[in-house]
Amino acid sequence: MKTIIEPFRIKSVEPLRRTTTAQRQQYLEQAGYNLFLLDAKDILIDLLTDSGTGAMSSEQWAAMMRGDESYAGSESFFRLKAAVQGLTGFRHVIPTHQGRAAERILFSVMCHPGDVVPNNTHFDTTRANIEFTGARAVDLPLPEAHDTQLHLPFKGNMDVAALERLIESEGREHVPLVMLTVTNNSGGGQPVSLENIRQVRQVTARYGIPFYLDACRFAENAWFIRQRERECALLTPKEIAREMFSLADGCTFSAKKDAFANIGGFLCANDDRLAQQEKDLLILTEGFPTYGGLAGRDLDAIAVGLEEVLDPDYLEYRIVSTAYLGRHIADRGVPIVEPPGGHAIYIDAGRMLPHIPRHQFPAQSLAVELYRHAGIRSVEIGSVMFGEHARHELLRLAIPRRVYTQSHIDYVVEAILEVNELKAELGGYEIVEQPPFLRHFSARFRPLKP
Ligand code: F0G
Repeated sequence: MKTIIEPFRIKSVEPLRRTTTAQRQQYLEQAGYNLFLLDAKDILIDLLTDSGTGAMSSEQWAAMMRGDESYAGSESFFRLKAAVQGLTGFRHVIPTHQGRAAERILFSVMCHPGDVVPNNTHFDTTRANIEFTGARAVDLPLPEAHDTQLHLPFKGNMDVAALERLIESEGREHVPLVMLTVTNNSGGGQPVSLENIRQVRQVTARYGIPFYLDACRFAENAWFIRQRERECALLTPKEIAREMFSLADGCTFSAKKDAFANIGGFLCANDDRLAQQEKDLLILTEGFPTYGGLAGRDLDAIAVGLEEVLDPDYLEYRIVSTAYLGRHIADRGVPIVEPPGGHAIYIDAGRMLPHIPRHQFPAQSLAVELYRHAGIRSVEIGSVMFGEHARHELLRLAIPRRVYTQSHIDYVVEAILEVNELKAELGGYEIVEQPPFLRHFSARFRPLKP
């Protein structure tokens, strides 16, 4: 059989609420045309993020009942630690309430003003947490990756030659760590090859610089490696993931992605002295090192999720279903970041709506129209989010894990193709109110007359 099906059946369902176009127009006006300010109940299909929005399995819910809520030395922690160490091999496992808490602790311990932290592409919280310490966050994606239309198997890779140049020019002592984000979220959800991870390892080892993975989507990345890197074709996703982690000195992890948890994260390290400093900081803001800002039951859900996510049937379905959405819109003329990524499809709104200049936010216009037309929520990743630093005007459609079925995705495809037919009628927006930073969460907009 060639048909790839959802490798699960559904035991518990949530209703979706339909609204009319007139209602959605009213909600948009009330929200200042910012989809973050809508009430979730007024959304039909929510593709805002794949973070914390996944469906847990019956095994995860069962594990939650085993949660040990002891303040210190909880059984749940030891189950999580065993799962994480079995996968990553790291000596220290420090739970946190989500990924950015792990980032804050890591960078507080490792970075100083004037330092530079390279990454293939920093996620926005990673960048913000580095900059908060007075250090600089530098993105080193492949130069070819800027072309959204180019098909490369590992478009998320780091430019290793640029990494060496940066270390040489800044001086090794000003580079406290090097990070790789797998998959490369801000770079279109594109994977990083095992070869690239090895090359970064070699460079960092030569200079004696610690090397960390931002591992939120490690399992999706491992699947791409299995599909696209010949030497790995016969390995299991777990074997590939272990190899990826074995090359690093530590990782940050948001369990809201590839651990199917609705909350949670962790920080791992091999260095005993660093880990001690990190645990000391953890107590200050997150909690005791055996729970780190989470309930015992959350730790158990993550432990089970880390096993489940490496199931080849799940990963095949996950990557194929994301590509299904991408192909069905791209092959009918909607420009996406090619090839389709792991957790999301990114529409190149700058290309799709060339009549809307960047300062009138083409991807925001598309996001608004997709909601008005069909009740679908997506997120602008362009000039609203990054201001003048934006490289592209993208609209991200992130797919929650195990939540939507094929027919939901068919509905999304139909909606996007219909909006594509109307694209000449879409106009730009201007910002009428905005906070001093991270403006995309709360800015308010006004449509401009086309
Ligand atoms: N790193 C990457 C690559 C991420 O995508 C995220 C979150 C984080 C770190 C931070 O983790 O949310 O648990 O604190 N990404 C979400 C998204 C929010 O929508 O892409 P967190």
